[in-house]
Amino acid sequence: MSFTTAQIPDLSGRSVLITGGNSGLGLATAHALYARNANITIACRSPQKGQDAVRAIKEKTLTSTGSVELLNLDLSSVKSTVEAAEEYTRNHDKLDILFANAGIAMEPYQLSVDGYERQFATNHLGHFAFITTLLPLLQRTAAAKPEGDVRVIITSSEAHRFTYKVNNGIDFSAMRGEKRKPDVDPTSIWELGDAFRRYGQSKLANILFTRELSRRLKSSHPNIYVNAIHPGAVATGLTSGGSAFIGPTLTKITNFLMGFLASSAEKGALTQLWAATSEEIVARDYRGEYFIPVAKMGKTTEEAKNEELMRELWKWSEGAVEGVVGKRVGGHVHCSRRKYLRIPDRHRIPLWA
Ligand SMILES: NC(=O)c1ccc[n+]([C@@H]2O[C@H](COP(=O)([O-])OP(=O)(O)OC[C@H]3O[C@@H](n4cnc5c(N)ncnc54)[C@H](OP(=O)(O)O)[C@@H]3O)[C@@H](O)[C@H]2O)c1
Repeated sequence: MSFTTAQIPDLSGRSVLITGGNSGLGLATAHALYARNANITIACRSPQKGQDAVRAIKEKTLTSTGSVELLNLDLSSVKSTVEAAEEYTRNHDKLDILFANAGIAMEPYQLSVDGYERQFATNHLGHFAFITTLLPLLQRTAAAKPEGDVRVIITSSEAHRFTYKVNNGIDFSAMRGEKRKPDVDPTSIWELGDAFRRYGQSKLANILFTRELSRRLKSSHPNIYVNAIHPGAVATGLTSGGSAFIGPTLTKITNFLMGFLASSAEKGALTQLWAATSEEIVARDYRGEYFIPVAKMGKTTEEAKNEELMRELWKWSEGAVEGVVGKRVGGHVHCSRRKYLRIPDRHRIPLWA
């Protein structure tokens, strides 16, 4: 299927939130949707980089009637993530399109501020906390437009195929560094394979979470469409963490080759733009699916279809978030009693189901 940004409909009045919207695929996504008059929020961890991106987005499409704003978000910290989602919810009355796009890859082994392996913490756990905290807003948005729809797009990767052989691909028993030998240098070249598997594990979690969230929303909020995508091999700064393993010379060679072999961020963003805006998603009732470039149905591993693992991941993630913020986030939990009562039962989902 061919898809170009020219096929994106006018998005005047639509609220769009993009994690990692300050660079690479997220920035290309923001450019394309702002050009179609959407009101964009880019959520990122560096205020300076964020402000530069906001300026660049506005300058590129001077004719847009949309808006661009910033939200501070550090996905590697559950607390920061929940606070960012709460701030967004306080300041916006709706959220039409949410891109869980930010990510890190190939980083030397490190624990997050909450004590979880950092790639998993950033790519999966942070997005789990962010999206579940935003769920009441997404649900309200969906309930307010029975004829329209709400989209959540989670950026995964073909790398979901390369993960651990333990527990169907997600090694919960190693998330806090339980299996690390203390004397191993995390930047040793021999650790590169593990870095890739840790990335693959987090990207497998992206698909499992997509499918479980989609399943939970299907009966209560059928007009919320949650899908995952792989953008292709794209020349961005994503693998810059890998230079710690291979040094500056090999990094330069790799970047040079990527420049030839990989596609541009603009092209790489097409599949997520399609999943966010195409009428085909609704017409064909695509939910919990995995798409590859450009706008094609992709095949996942059997692990990514494992429903038991989906539930286990949800439960583990819920526990991890609760362990940090001391409460269960999302659903009706955050709403005051008045707000809670305003949402009819059929518009709430039991997150613990
Ligand atoms: N590029 C590829 O070939 C490829 C292939 C498959 C999948 N993907 C996926 O595509 C997504 C986007 O990656 P990209 O290629 O566009 O790479 P990128 O240019 O490096 O963008 C990654 C974005 O994530 C943000 N980010 C990283 N850690 C964060 C944190 N703790 N809190 C908040 N934001 C954080 C980065 O912000 P900073 O600028 O502050 O670092 C940046 O905006 C990722 O999920 C990646 O796994 C990419």
